[in-house]
Amino acid sequence: MKFLLVTDLDNTLVGDDAATLALNQRLQSERSQFCLVYATGRSYASTRELIAQKQLLLPDYLIAGVGSEIYQDDTLDLDWATHLSHNWDKLALASIAQQFSQLELQSPLEQNPWKMSFFLEETPTVAAEIIGDLQQKISAAGLAAQIVFSSNLDLDILPQTSNKGNALTYLQKRLQIHPEATLVCGDSGNDISMFEQDARGVIVANALSELLEWYRQCGSQNHYFASSKCAGGIMEGMQYFWGW
Ligand code: GLC
Ligand code: MG
Repeated sequence: MKFLLVTDLDNTLVGDDAATLALNQRLQSERSQFCLVYATGRSYASTRELIAQKQLLLPDYLIAGVGSEIYQDDTLDLDWATHLSHNWDKLALASIAQQFSQLELQSPLEQNPWKMSFFLEETPTVAAEIIGDLQQKISAAGLAAQIVFSSNLDLDILPQTSNKGNALTYLQKRLQIHPEATLVCGDSGNDISMFEQDARGVIVANALSELLEWYRQCGSQNHYFASSKCAGGIMEGMQYFWGW
């Protein structure tokens, strides 16, 4: 059986250098047995920098920009791009977002044709209200989009069909890998959509409150809350679900 390992990067695969190194060595020795996918909020360019800096294995696929882009080697998956482009009016969504003075646009490097990213620095209650208002304005305008909020700071506006979870399911189906052989790993809000898919999931010990809250409410026997942080947690999950 071929395995599909889909992992977030910041504070999941990366964050504890010794554990990253140990996991990399383990993965390297069994490289032909699995398909390796990185699923990150980072842009393609910033992911490549991190891969070089931390000497990560080269993935088979890269889900970048919170699922707004999929790359195989250095090539953008145009089928996925076409899929996301249906019903996606970035200009109209930008003009709605502009009405919210609390939203501060992230760097141009973090924007792409299928992702608009902002900072929203408010208390959790105020942030939740603003997100509710934004979602309502989007729906009232007859537009389709999803809002992903992470780390109590990062707010992404994405096509409704996007996100890390939908992107990984697209790859899982294409590669015809069974849900039991699929393991997803993450630590924060933009990883929640991965845990909602038909797959096994590891929540690393250092997970943020938004993911822990989701786990309390929606976690099942398909989800494992690791006692080790970052890559150590991934290794625990591989042992727990796959006996690796
Ligand atoms: C990464 C991206 C940023 C995004 C955040 C949460 O930090 O660089 O644009 O908002 O992930 O998804
Ligand atoms: Mg992360």
